Amino acid sequence: MAEEAHSQVIDQVVQEALDKSGLTGRDLSAVAVTIGPGLSLCLRVGVQKARRVAGSFNLPIISVHHMEAHALVARLIEKELQFPFMALLISGGHNLLVLAHDLGQYTQLGTTIDDAIGEAFDKTAKWLGLDMRKSGGPAVEQIAQEGDAESVRFSIPMKQHKDCNFSFAGLKTQVRLAIASKNIEAKVPISCASSQDRSSRADIAASFQRVAVLHLEERCERAIEWALKIEPSIKHLVVSGGVASNQYVRARLDRVVKKYSLQLVCPPPKLCTDNGVMIAWTGIENFRVGRYDPPPPANDPEDFMYDLRPRWPLGEEYAEGRSEARSLRRARVHPSLTSLVQASLQQQ
Ligand code: KG4
Ligand code: ZN
Repeated sequence: MAEEAHSQVIDQVVQEALDKSGLTGRDLSAVAVTIGPGLSLCLRVGVQKARRVAGSFNLPIISVHHMEAHALVARLIEKELQFPFMALLISGGHNLLVLAHDLGQYTQLGTTIDDAIGEAFDKTAKWLGLDMRKSGGPAVEQIAQEGDAESVRFSIPMKQHKDCNFSFAGLKTQVRLAIASKNIEAKVPISCASSQDRSSRADIAASFQRVAVLHLEERCERAIEWALKIEPSIKHLVVSGGVASNQYVRARLDRVVKKYSLQLVCPPPKLCTDNGVMIAWTGIENFRVGRYDPPPPANDPEDFMYDLRPRWPLGEEYAEGRSEARSLRRARVHPSLTSLVQASLQQQ
C-alpha cells in the first residue's frame, strides 16, 4: 500500500515542486534522491523517478542518506553552524545521537534499542483517543498543556544504563497500563469525553511527554560530555526530525545545552518533519565537494538493480557507547555512510 501510494503521486509531486518554483528540468544542476534508510519498496519509487528526471535532462545524480539530511538542513537556516557539531535526530522511525565531524563523517553516540520516540507519541495519542489528523505528536503536545505532568509516575527508561542509547517500548507499556487503570475508553473521541475523562487523558499525555523528554535530556547530557571529549570545539546541538517540532522538547533541551554553554539549533517545524528541502540541501552540500554520480541513461533496463540501502547506519558506533542489546540486530546492515566516505577519500 505504501509503495502504491508513492507511485500514484510521485509524478504530480515533482511537477508541482517545479511549477511552484517557476523552474523546468532544464534549469536544474543535479538531482538528489534518498537511497536509505527506509522501506525499499518506497525508496525504489523515488530513485526510479530521480533517475528518469536526471536521465532526460542529462543531470548528475546525488545519493542522500535520509538521517544526514535531517541533520544538515540546520546548516541551511543557521549559516554559523560549522562542523564539528552534535545532532539529536528524533522522528517516527529513529532516535539518533551523532557527532558530525564533517560532511559524510559521523560518530554514532546513541540509537534506539526498540521503538522511536515519535512512534511512542503516536501510540499514546491513539490510545488516548486523540485527533490523529496531524499525526499523534502534535495532538499529545496540545492536550498535555491542560494536564498535570507530575500526576502519573512513569519511570524514566534505561536509567541504569550509563550510555546514550534510547528505549521507548517500556514507557509505551506503562502508558497503556495507566490508560487501562483509569478506564479511559479510546473509542470515545476526546471531543466527546466528559470533563473528568478529558482531564485524566490530559494528565497521562503530560506525564508521558515529561518522562519521554526526561529520557532525551539525560541521554543528551551524557552525549555532550562524550562529544566534548572527542571534539572539544563543538558549539552546537542540532535537534531535528518530526518530534523536534515539539515546543516542550525544544524548551527542555535548550536548558540542557545552556549548562554546557552550547547553542541549540532547531530548524522550523516544516523543515523538521520529512520534507524535500532537506534532501535538496544535502544534495547541494555533496555537489559542492564533487560527490555525485554521472547522469544515468535516459531509460534504465527492466532488470536494473537499484542501489537501495534500507538499513544504513550514518556512522560507526562510539566504542564507549556500544550496547549489548543492539549487537544481535545487525543482520543485512549496509556499511555506514562514514566508512564509505572514508574509503573513497583514501582512494583519492
Ligand atoms: O521526521 P518525521 O516527519 O518522519 C519520520 O522520518 O518518521 O517524523 C514524524 C514523527 C511522528 O511520529 C509524529 O508524531 C512526530 O514526528 N511529531 C511530533 C510532533 N510533530 C510531529 N511529536 C511530538 N510533538 C510534535 N509536535
Ligand atoms: Zn525523517
